[in-house]
Amino acid sequence: MQTPHSNRKNEHLSLATKFWRDQQTPVLGPSFEAVRWVPGPLRDMAVSTVDPSVELFGQHFDWPFYIEAMTGGSEATRRVNEDLAKVSARTGIAMAVGSQSVAIKDPAQADSFRVVREQNPEGFLIANLGADHPIENVRAAIEMIDANAIELHVNVGQEIAMAEGDRSFYWLDNLKKIVAESPVPVIIKEVGFGMGPALLSQLAELKPAAINLGGANGTSFAQIEQARDRHNDNPMDLSSYGLTTVESLLAAENAGIKTPIIATGGIRSVKDVVTSLMMGATLTSSAGHFLELLMKDGADGLEKEIRLWQQQLPLYMTLLGAQKPADLVKAKRIYSADLFNSHQQF
Ligand SMILES: Cc1cc2nc3c(=O)[nH]c(=O)nc-3n(C[C@H](O)[C@H](O)[C@H](O)COP(=O)(O)O)c2cc1C
Repeated sequence: MQTPHSNRKNEHLSLATKFWRDQQTPVLGPSFEAVRWVPGPLRDMAVSTVDPSVELFGQHFDWPFYIEAMTGGSEATRRVNEDLAKVSARTGIAMAVGSQSVAIKDPAQADSFRVVREQNPEGFLIANLGADHPIENVRAAIEMIDANAIELHVNVGQEIAMAEGDRSFYWLDNLKKIVAESPVPVIIKEVGFGMGPALLSQLAELKPAAINLGGANGTSFAQIEQARDRHNDNPMDLSSYGLTTVESLLAAENAGIKTPIIATGGIRSVKDVVTSLMMGATLTSSAGHFLELLMKDGADGLEKEIRLWQQQLPLYMTLLGAQKPADLVKAKRIYSADLFNSHQQF
């Protein structure tokens, strides 16, 4: 049955795809192009000795990138989740599902999430809910897909942009409780507005397993929610609100954040993955770019792209003298004047 909530999920999917396809995702500030890699000294190494895997949450990830949270909650999105999970199983990368709130309210929608575990029985799968859900819902979301971790999104920008969005945000105590009681590691994440130093420091104090700083220049929920709100002749102007992913990574560095960082937002290539790892991310993820490929070229097209990333990552790492992803932080880089300026102002 089509509820308003599942209809919203379909609209997110089609609008996000459209904006990526038409290259209309807004640019808010300096992006990955603002970081150039300085050639380093010669290293005695070979591409065959590179190990691109990372350890996080006491778990082993073969690759430092995964499919970020997008969907579930309707028949159309069930098919998308099925394809994404097939690709994640075939390529050995992790995957997050979209917010399971819709299935907590209407259990008939739970199949559109469970399908990811059916398609990827052995994979690392990440559940997803908003920061206001009680611990019982967190347990239910984890159980629904037998999740290995859970993401809680802090998405004030999206809610404010959404006509039917939340208008009160008493999240901190709840986040603290969930971090303390969740049976699996908790990741606190943004959805594309990025994070500044004060937010990062505040979230780090809650001691989540990781923070996903979800920056701008990729999927924009200001743009998506306002496109959904067709009858509003006077939308808010959110074009000044947010930080890009590279700016957020610098904010984390300046704030001395020790919590592992996941970089998401506008990652379109494995080069962007490398730059994110260089700037201190432990893991990275992509949503809109992978979705657009899936919609255009199907599961085989998305698999081809991920295999290309897997083939090229060790080449880039060798170029930069990195045996392991964590070695990339030692690689020298220069920032464009714009990005350097943001850096100075944090
Ligand atoms: C269609 C779509 C639906 C999304 N739904 C969710 C969601 O339910 N929960 C969530 O935490 N993030 C959601 N996101 C946000 C992504 O996880 C990610 O943070 C954001 O899209 C920025 O990454 P990108 O630029 O690679 O798309 C969604 C993204 C897309 C494209």
